[in-house]
Formats: sequence, C-alpha cells, structure tokens
Amino acid sequence: MASIPLKKKADPASFLGQWSMFFRQFVKHPGMIGSVIPSSPALVNSMLDRVDWQRTRLFVEYGPGVGTFTRPILERMHPDATLLAIDLNLDFVAWLEAQIDDPRLRVVNGSAADVRRFIAESGHLQADYILSGIPFSTLPDGVGEFICAETQRAIRPGGEFLVYQYSAYVRRLLTGQFSEVVERVEWRNIPPCRMFRAMKSESLAQAA
Ligand SMILES: C[S@@+](CC[C@H](N)C(=O)[O-])C[C@H]1O[C@@H](n2cnc3c(N)ncnc32)[C@H](O)[C@@H]1O
Repeated sequence: MASIPLKKKADPASFLGQWSMFFRQFVKHPGMIGSVIPSSPALVNSMLDRVDWQRTRLFVEYGPGVGTFTRPILERMHPDATLLAIDLNLDFVAWLEAQIDDPRLRVVNGSAADVRRFIAESGHLQADYILSGIPFSTLPDGVGEFICAETQRAIRPGGEFLVYQYSAYVRRLLTGQFSEVVERVEWRNIPPCRMFRAMKSESLAQAA
C-alpha cells in the first residue's frame, strides 16, 4: 500500500531519546504511564497484523506516549485515513506534535473517556479500530468501565477494540461490552504482554 513518508520536525527522536522521554514521564506519573519502557517492535507488529488497513478510515489510539505505535500505524494506514491519538499527558502530546509531521495524524490532550467527543470534533461518526495502551488496572475506580462502555459506542459495527496490557484485569471490562473477545500473549516484550481483540458485532445498530 502507498504510504505517506513521516517527516520529523525536530531531531531528538532517536531510539534513546524516546526511551529517555518515556522513562522521565514514568518517574513523574507512574500510575498514568504504567510501564517503565515503551512497547517492543514484536508487540507492535502482533497488535497491528490483523487490522484491515484498506477499509480503515478512522483509527483511534489511546495513550500514544512517545509514538511507539503511532509511527507504525501511520506507515500502514491508507493515505485517506485519519489517526486520532488521545493522551492524558500533555508532555507526550507536545512531544508527538514536535516529532511527527503527517497530515493524517491528529493528536489531542485529554482522556479516552471523552473519545466520542474527540471523534465528533474530528468530523467522523465512529472509529473502525481503537487501540489502547492505557493501564486499565491502575485507573481510578469506575474509569476503566466507563472508558470501555464509551469505546464500544465509539466503534462502528464490525469494528474492533485492540488492547495490550500486562495484567488480565481488563478482560472482565471487555467481555461486559463486546460480543467476542480473543486473547493472545506476546512473549517478545518486557514484560510479556496480553493482547485482546474485542469485536463489536456487525449486527449492532449504530449507537447514538
Ligand atoms: C504504557 S504507556 C503506553 C505508551 C505507548 N503506547 C507504548 O506502547 O509504548 C500508557 C499511556 O497511556 C496514557 N494514558 C493513561 N491514562 C489515559 C487516559 N485516561 N486517556 C488517554 N491516555 C491515557 C499515558 O499518558 C501513557 O502515554
């Protein structure tokens, strides 16, 4: 598939620069970040290898951090598609805006809980896929349930919620909202990571 090359606005996007930025944010906000180092390339590939890129027009990413998934998503994405990246941490938002110059990327500062508002503000109705790296097990009480319910409404029938997590906590939240949930483990990550594909049934009418 033809892809738009990613242009860097600033230079320090080196591997070490990304790790250092990520680690500094972990020290500042351990509960919000939930991991000491970014996801591995093996995890990124495993999470993205079943996406129907040809059909995807809106892809949403929760918790892009330093862009570990953001860049590979843009490399795979259709030239006419949009990637909406939502992060609670303003430093990560500023970092991504400085590092990735791609007209298909829209980075917003806020919570995944407001995903439907962010989708509407970007001129779309629903997402084809939503990918999440946020640490569900450390969110305040009730927030994970709310985000999963809002995500289910934000995804079109036949779309998918893709979640990677170190703990199994999120499984119960996903099975409460989605018609089918498939779980795998990617061992080539530190630590090994659970991967969930939560599918929204084709037969569900579009939620308001
Ligand atoms: C484990 S890091 C994942 C970073 C990157 N995607 C990766 O895989 O390396 C979790 C990210 O979720 C963000 N985050 C935490 N809670 C959030 C929320 N409620 N809404 C949006 N982003 C959130 C954090 O700021 C952080 O960027």
